[in-house]
Amino acid sequence: MAITKPKGTKDVYGDQAALWQYIEKTAREVAVVFGAQEIRTPTFERIELFRQSVGEATDIVQKEMYSFTDQGGREYVLRPEGTAGTVRAYLENSLYDLPMPAKLYYICPNFRAERPQEGRYREFYQFGAEYFGSYEASADAELISLAHLYLTRLGVENLTLHLNSIGDGECRKRYNDALLAFLRAKEENLCDLCRDRMGKNPMRVLDCKNPDCQEHLTDAPVPLDYISDEAREHFEQLQENLKILDISFVINKSIVRGLDYYTRTVFEFTSDDLGSQSTVCGGGRYDKLVEKNGGQPTGAVGFGMGMERLLIILRNQGKLPAIDKGIELFIGHMGDAGALKALEMANCLRKKGISVITDLGARGVKAQMKYANKAEAKFAAIIGDSELEKGRVTVKSMASGKETEIELDGLVSYFGNSQKAKGFT
Ligand code: HAM
Repeated sequence: MAITKPKGTKDVYGDQAALWQYIEKTAREVAVVFGAQEIRTPTFERIELFRQSVGEATDIVQKEMYSFTDQGGREYVLRPEGTAGTVRAYLENSLYDLPMPAKLYYICPNFRAERPQEGRYREFYQFGAEYFGSYEASADAELISLAHLYLTRLGVENLTLHLNSIGDGECRKRYNDALLAFLRAKEENLCDLCRDRMGKNPMRVLDCKNPDCQEHLTDAPVPLDYISDEAREHFEQLQENLKILDISFVINKSIVRGLDYYTRTVFEFTSDDLGSQSTVCGGGRYDKLVEKNGGQPTGAVGFGMGMERLLIILRNQGKLPAIDKGIELFIGHMGDAGALKALEMANCLRKKGISVITDLGARGVKAQMKYANKAEAKFAAIIGDSELEKGRVTVKSMASGKETEIELDGLVSYFGNSQKAKGFT
């Protein structure tokens, strides 16, 4: 019986895999430009980590985690997001000993049991960056500029950066009180989940996707109206920094983000070229999370970029690069002696970093050339008894059809030298 892939997942191969390599390589290049270092954390973590960090009343924790109990009775979840695991790893590995701020980045899969649709999957990749050890608005600005430079490098256009501040500490308490008073007055119009969330974290009521609830939430108080003078000053400094960086933004008072750990700055990059799932990147400051996980008070800020959504934008904006398979030469053969010579030559060229394919199918010359063409080899050469006798071989350009006869023993230097050796020799 044929078995299909799980709902909301994908197989990536061929040109699509090359496009993934392209966006991942660019992400690494941009992260390095900012002095960030890669971190790789486990794909599964203890369930408590996300309950404690992302929050008990969030969609992720209440509805979307893939959890399982292992043979030892321990409860784990497949990572639904990257920040909690990075914070855990930061503490567990004493990464606070790094020069501060510690700048970490990751490219990894995340798992959420959401209803799949275009731009929303159950397994999806994020390019994320997290800065630990600075409370300054300049860190928020730099972090945002990292995401911005990445998107610019890829040629993405027409993005909107939405910016908001949701405050922290005392001002968050004041806001929660005001929001709770507002919600209490609407309580009977809200769904069971909203009513449950009111008691746990009133801000999470605002995430409810039920259109009936949303209708009653339109006039809800917004955090920006309640933030302290310090938080407001921080927010203004961030805006000033972004102006210097030439990054345009809009203030969007309704952005609260769906995860509990945020303090002060929150932001999202959206695109009209994405359809209903319009957010390609989201992030913000989370100054209390390290402490909550047992560390010292540590200012921190980060973002997560949805890589599938990024590819959708690039496709819709016609910004995907042409894919070059990079196969330089097909060496075909006729007869046993030719086959051995082809094998030897291919081996020499590969050691020099030149991409070579050969016939592994005992096919006739016509079928071999068909294969070379289909595989998009740039050149082809066939070695048979007469080539071995003359010591010369014809190299054919597959694009122009032009043929050049060269010394058979010169084949390696002909291709090996015409190419920049790719670090293989
Ligand atoms: P998030 O908003 O949950 O934040 O996700 C960040 C981005 O991941 C989204 O903007 C979206 O592009 C992508 N994404 C989320 N869910 C899906 C899905 N089901 N399918 C496809 N793409 C998706 C976080 O995850 C935070 N950890 C970001 C962060 C890092 N904040 C501070 N540091």
